[in-house]
Amino acid sequence: MTNIFPSLLSADFLTLNDEIEALEKAGVDGLHFDVMDGQFVPNISIGFPILEAVRRGTSLPIDVHLMVANPEPYIDEFCQKGADKVSVHVEATPHIHRAIQKIKANGKEAGVVINPGTPVSMIQPLLTDIDFVLVMSVNPGFGGQAFIPATLDKIRELKNVRSAQNLLFKIEVDGGVNAETAQQVVEAGADWLVAGSYFFNQEDYADAVSRLKGQA
Ligand code: DX5
Ligand code: ZN
Repeated sequence: MTNIFPSLLSADFLTLNDEIEALEKAGVDGLHFDVMDGQFVPNISIGFPILEAVRRGTSLPIDVHLMVANPEPYIDEFCQKGADKVSVHVEATPHIHRAIQKIKANGKEAGVVINPGTPVSMIQPLLTDIDFVLVMSVNPGFGGQAFIPATLDKIRELKNVRSAQNLLFKIEVDGGVNAETAQQVVEAGADWLVAGSYFFNQEDYADAVSRLKGQA
């Protein structure tokens, strides 16, 4: 069953509590929380105070995507402030395995993220230690960009590696996901879909969930 994680980056922050309530009613599987540092990516977004507030507002799983250079010193605090899943970019630190260990030491689900220009082979040594791989289907930093089709091959490759090596990690896809690209990435092997601009542009969030799951 495909899981849907709307990216709060595209929500209305002035009415965030209402947005979260509407997302819960629409039956989403969790909330995707994009943290950008202005270093690893050319944009700055949200951090600890908003995470803390969102945590108070929902019991849905919170999926924190750290687009942060050298994120290790911040991992404990993201876990303490409410993350259920934390993902770190392999491109963002020379010590990716240590970053994964820090997430696991907090008892949270750990994910490794690969940019569109990064091959699956870069994370092969991590695949036994992580809970999920987040495959970026746009260059991170902004919502509303177009899906990069070459991502589909990497999703297929990850799915093949997972079954060949009897591994259990989930495959999450983030960037340019809409009703059409959702179908393509799910066919390729994606388990979890992140959707920002497409999702929040739909009038009815329950419809958005059904469309992304290919049920409408
Ligand atoms: C991009 C972020 C995404 C973003 C997705 O850097 O990681 O989570 O919010 O937005 P859409 O779905 O509009 O591409
Ligand atoms: Zn994201």
